[in-house]
Amino acid sequence: MLKMQKFFIQTFGCQMNVYDGQRIAAMLEKHGLTQTDNVEDADLIILNTCSVREKATNKVYSALGRIRRAKKDSALFGIVGCVARESGSDAFKRIPELNFVLGPQSYHKLPEIIKNPDTRLLNIDLGGLEKFDELPQMTKTPSVAYIPIQEGCNHCCTYCIVPYTRGRELSRPFKDVMQDTLNAAKTGAIEICFLGQNVNGYKYTDENGKLFKLSDLIRETAKLPEIKRIRFTSSYPTEMSDDLIEMFGIEPKLLPFLNMPVQSGSPRVLKRMNRPDDINAYKTIVNKLKTVRPDIQISSDFIVGFPDETDADFEETLNIARDIKYINSYSFKYSPRPHTAAALMDNQISEQIKSVRLQRLDSQLNENQREFNTSCIGQEMICLLEGPDKTGKHLIFRTPYMQQCIVEKPESEISPMQKIKITDANKASLRGEIIK
Ligand code: 5AD
Ligand code: SF4
Repeated sequence: MLKMQKFFIQTFGCQMNVYDGQRIAAMLEKHGLTQTDNVEDADLIILNTCSVREKATNKVYSALGRIRRAKKDSALFGIVGCVARESGSDAFKRIPELNFVLGPQSYHKLPEIIKNPDTRLLNIDLGGLEKFDELPQMTKTPSVAYIPIQEGCNHCCTYCIVPYTRGRELSRPFKDVMQDTLNAAKTGAIEICFLGQNVNGYKYTDENGKLFKLSDLIRETAKLPEIKRIRFTSSYPTEMSDDLIEMFGIEPKLLPFLNMPVQSGSPRVLKRMNRPDDINAYKTIVNKLKTVRPDIQISSDFIVGFPDETDADFEETLNIARDIKYINSYSFKYSPRPHTAAALMDNQISEQIKSVRLQRLDSQLNENQREFNTSCIGQEMICLLEGPDKTGKHLIFRTPYMQQCIVEKPESEISPMQKIKITDANKASLRGEIIK
């Protein structure tokens, strides 16, 4: 067995990957390794990867190229996560020195490479929820704890590689999720963010036939005194059931902010994306949410330049962005991915048109954000401390809408939840004062 002391891990992609990265670190620490930020110093190097768009995959391969040159000769290195699953054994062809390629549901097998450093380890099986049982609990949790409640997705949007990389949708047992939540609360968490590719589709039936939904997880979590804020991401519009909508009216710890991607405002494009294409039904859900929680704000992800998207289709996307007044949203150029139906569709859109559309959508989204941020001036909000800024002179807080709010650093230590009066705003952030 090779003498291994230090590991380096770099995580790309979504919050699910951030969680996976934390669990990998905890697992390696349990095996006696310590984490280093320096690749040159590491005996084991892991890239925890994302393949959602082509750019994300390319980023991983260029990082691998850099690491290959910088690492110690004896160091083992490899990839885990979605690029591992996307590339499979091709990864070894592209980078022959790689020691392991482990998919998002098999990274708990990583210690095998420590025991057998002379072998190559390839495992991209979709093993289900096994990894959750094998990984050690965290002993320290940051103030925001991301807790996966389900993995994979059954919706099969035609652009999306996730059903291929993360497999069919599986909900974790209710008591396992609550165990993780309790552990997070006892080890430092103040905010819980439930994660899933289709988080509001969470459904688990226990051995007595009792059905648990996301609203049950929220209700139970809200009972924990350490937990002050609860949110969840990412929601599929038609899975926004009435019991969940009602929670926004009942449970004050549930933040008044919901990520519910629409992707496009055009029913014609939505149909080809294999997404819910009834825009009025989408608006009805937003209205129901506003009825139970008038201060709620919605965020979305958007894709521009999906195959065969016309100017008129794109105008409908601009319209919905304007109508719903989305805040904190993300927009992407469509990127054809392997193993997806849309990559094979006719009438792929040119890069140039995608760029123009992205710019126009972004300017609408920025306008929404600026307008919302400005409307916050004068309000008092209970915010969660994230940490000091780069200068060390200010503290960064997160508002209930996940805006960044910068305040003067007080002389004395303060508790992480503070009432803050918003004094100024721009497109990117707010400024405020702590109310004593
Ligand atoms: N091209 C561009 N954007 C994509 N997304 C998912 N797949 C693709 C793709 N092939 C975006 C969607 C999703 C977010 C996580 O990434 O907007 O909500
Ligand atoms: Fe990227 Fe999707 Fe995999 Fe997350 S699940 S790492 S966003 S491809």
